[in-house]
Amino acid sequence: MMWYQRAPFVLGGTPEAELWVDGLSAGYGNFLVLRNISLEVKPGLTVILGPNGAGKSTLLKAINGLIPRSGILLLDGEELPEKTNAIVKAGIALVAEGRQLFPQMTVLENLELGGWLVAKLERARRLEQAFADFPKLRDRANQLAGTMSGGEQQMVAVARAMMSAPRLLMLDEPSLGLAPRMVDELLGIARRIADSGTTVLMVEQNVRKALSVADRGYVLERGSLIASGPAVLLSRSSVVREAYLGAQSVDTAASAAAARRA
Ligand SMILES: Nc1ncnc2c1ncn2[C@@H]1O[C@H](COP(=O)(O)OP(=O)(O)OP(=O)(O)O)[C@@H](O)[C@H]1O
Ligand SMILES: [Mg+2]
Repeated sequence: MMWYQRAPFVLGGTPEAELWVDGLSAGYGNFLVLRNISLEVKPGLTVILGPNGAGKSTLLKAINGLIPRSGILLLDGEELPEKTNAIVKAGIALVAEGRQLFPQMTVLENLELGGWLVAKLERARRLEQAFADFPKLRDRANQLAGTMSGGEQQMVAVARAMMSAPRLLMLDEPSLGLAPRMVDELLGIARRIADSGTTVLMVEQNVRKALSVADRGYVLERGSLIASGPAVLLSRSSVVREAYLGAQSVDTAASAAAARRA
């Protein structure tokens, strides 16, 4: 595929990290969303699939310390701290649903904020690398983030997260609301980041495309994991085919049959 011809990402590029999640429960006040979730995020690209309201964003928020949680979380064998600041320092970055850029600030300023934890010289070095990794953003450095297209904003959000040189990058629906070409570009970026050594955990509703770039996946329904495995096997599993690929597969089969008849 096209994106493999490009240079790998240099930002991040830390040793491949692994996240262990054991018996994770989390929710909002008395409302428990995730019940006793156990999963393993290995180096490479892991995708979380599931219908609206399944708890996918809640899972990323719980890992990132944005909501209270119980259970054991280990990043490369070390227990994850509870507070978000400490979790970011431990090497986890989240690109939340809806991107959360500062619209009145420039692209450059948004990127600099992603490197707030590091010293000035190192921040400048990473900024230069971010522009090398995301060449489209260099020309837009002084544009207000809020005036960029959806796809461009998503790219800024990913680049900003990479400014913290994370060991684990979490992406919540990076392709939401984007045109097909931008979806491919964003998922290609996620793949290249994973290939360069930063472990990626991504939530996606675009099941077919997500499984085509991912190494492994989990299916979350009503706060519990109902399926998991290598992406190739998941895309063939009856659970995924019926719930997520079903209609499309039938359509394709039907149109192929129609084409044969014609
Ligand atoms: N801040 C909140 N306060 C209370 N309940 C919440 C909050 N955020 C989410 N929920 C509830 O938690 C459940 C899981 O929501 P979550 O956002 O994790 O789902 P999701 O799988 O990410 O869905 P989507 O695909 O629509 O993004 C839903 O029932 C939702 O209403
Ligand atoms: Mg969500």
